[in-house]
Amino acid sequence: MREWSPHSYEKISIFSDYLQQFAVAAGSATNRVYIDAFGGDTVNVLRGSGRTFAGSAEIALAIEPPFSHLRFFELKAGRAAALRRLIASDPRRASVIEGDCNSTMAGVLAGLPVQAPTFAFLDPDGMELNWSTIRMLADHKRRYANETGKSKVEMWVLFSSAGIVRVLGSNRQLALEKGFPEKIARLYGAWGPWERVWEAKLDGEISGGDAKKAYLFLYMDRLASLGYRHLLVRPIENSRNELFAMVFVTDHPAGASIMKWAVERDRAIPEPGTLFDAVESRPPYEDLHTGWRESFPIELPEWEELG
Ligand SMILES: C[S@@+](CC[C@H](N)C(=O)[O-])C[C@H]1O[C@@H](n2cnc3c(N)ncnc32)[C@H](O)[C@@H]1O
Repeated sequence: MREWSPHSYEKISIFSDYLQQFAVAAGSATNRVYIDAFGGDTVNVLRGSGRTFAGSAEIALAIEPPFSHLRFFELKAGRAAALRRLIASDPRRASVIEGDCNSTMAGVLAGLPVQAPTFAFLDPDGMELNWSTIRMLADHKRRYANETGKSKVEMWVLFSSAGIVRVLGSNRQLALEKGFPEKIARLYGAWGPWERVWEAKLDGEISGGDAKKAYLFLYMDRLASLGYRHLLVRPIENSRNELFAMVFVTDHPAGASIMKWAVERDRAIPEPGTLFDAVESRPPYEDLHTGWRESFPIELPEWEELG
């Protein structure tokens, strides 16, 4: 069992709306592929309320028209076992891959049909998603997509600027001793701009808020470099005012429209201690990413790719 805050519930409810429409839009394809790189727990509870809700795996398994291939990755043995129980009645189309998705993804992708519309949900707890895995997913269908004018793998990534701030911290020496910069370099797949942001924050050149935003926009710069036609970001703050972001990339205009619809539509977010769920409206998407470097207070260096 895992407890979640209301903002995690919001995420999963957007995910559910999106995935349903993705499957409908791809309904005429012979195959539809779903990749859940961070499968999670099968029993999810809203903190403080005792109310349970389905996780991403359960939602994906129930979608109609059905996915022909579902792949659930999970690091923790107990959660992987629970996921295996969840898919027990669906052994032909679903499988659970226990271990680090960064190591196991290549082998799994090799067995999936490149012609199929493919959606990947990348929902780590923190800094566990390596850039090499994102690039692998973006490249999985690239040749086929280029030759046929079809779409690459669509990805929805949960990105935690707050996590980076926490990991790098305010003690340069400690972070270096613990090897945290290497971890962040694996996340971005490169050195350079994020290091400059970290230094500037430590030296008081920029504010903590500027640093948090820059970490997110730098991640979007990296995603933009993968050649997707649409890139959407929706920052969200949790109850501790920490910045997370839901970042979506697709080649398909319908994918972008559906994600906009799912994120912008009015939504009931259950709050602990309330009797009824009030429906709240959501602001429209804004393009926060384009041109952000020009208004950023310091100049940033070029990326230095990891070997
Ligand atoms: C935020 S939860 C996923 C929640 C799930 N997507 C849902 O909505 O129900 C992240 C999960 O990823 C798992 N995890 C962490 N690092 C991982 C890795 N390197 N490879 C695969 N799974 C990992 C954690 O054990 C945790 O269960």
